[in-house]
Amino acid sequence: MSHRNMSVSIHVLTILVALFIARASCRALPWHPENRTALFIFGDSLFDSGNSNFLNTTSEFRANFYPYGETFFKHPTGRFSDGRLIPDFIAEYAGLPLIPPYLQPGKYEFTGGANFATSGAGALAETYSGFVVDLKSQLRLFEKMEKQLKKNFGDELAAKTISEAVYLFSIGSGDYSSTFFTNSTLFQSHSHEEYVAMVIGNITSVISGIYSKGGRKFGVNSLGPIGCSPIMRALEGTGACLEELNELVKLHNGALAKALQKLGAKLDGFKYSRLDFFSVVMELIDNPSKYGFKEVKEACCGSGPYRGRTSCGGRRGEEYKLCPNPSDYIYFDSGHPPEKANQYYAELMWSGSTNVIGPYNLEELFKLIHRQTKN
Ligand SMILES: *[C@@H]1O[C@H](CO)[C@@H](O)[C@H](O)[C@H]1NC(C)=O
Ligand SMILES: *[C@@H]1O[C@H](CO)[C@@H](O)[C@H](O)[C@H]1NC(C)=O
Ligand SMILES: *[C@@H]1O[C@H](CO)[C@@H](O)[C@H](O)[C@H]1NC(C)=O
Ligand SMILES: *[C@@H]1O[C@H](CO)[C@@H](O)[C@H](O)[C@H]1NC(C)=O
Repeated sequence: MSHRNMSVSIHVLTILVALFIARASCRALPWHPENRTALFIFGDSLFDSGNSNFLNTTSEFRANFYPYGETFFKHPTGRFSDGRLIPDFIAEYAGLPLIPPYLQPGKYEFTGGANFATSGAGALAETYSGFVVDLKSQLRLFEKMEKQLKKNFGDELAAKTISEAVYLFSIGSGDYSSTFFTNSTLFQSHSHEEYVAMVIGNITSVISGIYSKGGRKFGVNSLGPIGCSPIMRALEGTGACLEELNELVKLHNGALAKALQKLGAKLDGFKYSRLDFFSVVMELIDNPSKYGFKEVKEACCGSGPYRGRTSCGGRRGEEYKLCPNPSDYIYFDSGHPPEKANQYYAELMWSGSTNVIGPYNLEELFKLIHRQTKN
């Protein structure tokens, strides 16, 4: 090899190494090795920051078109809202950047955590099967990411990140609401109590799976009164809340509270936060003006009664109406809150008092981690 050729080879090698390092530090590595508590997000469209953009799914489970994103981002991101979602605010309060969707391809710095939530996802594999990443599959993605973390940072830093992180869930709504739109043989062949037990059992096993990897701090809210969303009011017919669905949700919420208590008693170091989301939303519906809202029945965006048809953004080519001020509404589309309501919910999750959230609020969970680190 001539001298010139060798120098070229070394040059190429240098570039390759530089590329490899750049790749390792920004793409393959989900985190900066900073001493900040990471945030991992699981669940459905209330928390999906864009994963469904990268799935082979239908427009029903996507929000990657106008007017989604119009208020804050000024472009659609895949979030089912005019602006930010609850985890976006939680990340901000925790001093973290926006947590990106895990499925997002290309160079992206996953500083401080990852979001595995996908629109339509349920705790049960049967819920919208084929169109979503169900909760158990989200756990598989998390485990894959944990391996990457170990490989890139070493076992010690990976373990530190995993054990100090907060794990946020929004899951279960789809398992119940889907039974009103699809013929679920699973639902039809079980009693309500049995069906709820399966949903809770699958949530519990995913939480246990994260615990077995070292996760300790969990935020799992009760479900909101999804029977009062515009799509369900339209289905109910008279404009009242769909009580049959809210009754299922109440069964779920009771069972969830018990399941979390049990986990706390069984698993050493397991800490959690649970917002009574049902009561919080009901209070908004009963006294909107007290919280700066005006409209609680009709959606800002959609068509038909209560704008409860899932036509926001011209999905399925349908015409739709859009309100001028989403902040007046507690529903942006047929089933999802606008940014202003998300911010209100996030504030309660972050620093709400024990009458709505417990045993810890998220601020306490994040701080608890710092205390443990210092020991
Ligand atoms: C992170 O924590 C380690 C000790 O755990 C400390 O030595 C280091 O200075 C900290 N780094 C930052 C950026 O705070
Ligand atoms: C996407 O889904 C459609 C309909 O289910 C299917 O026909 C198609 O093969 C899928 N494409 C990929 C890339 O999986
Ligand atoms: C459910 O099944 C019934 C009876 O087979 C059928 O009439 C109905 O259209 C089905 N509904 C859906 C949403 O598939
Ligand atoms: C999880 O859900 C499946 C149905 O998808 C059910 O058969 C199973 O029993 C559930 N697991 C637990 C632990 O409840």
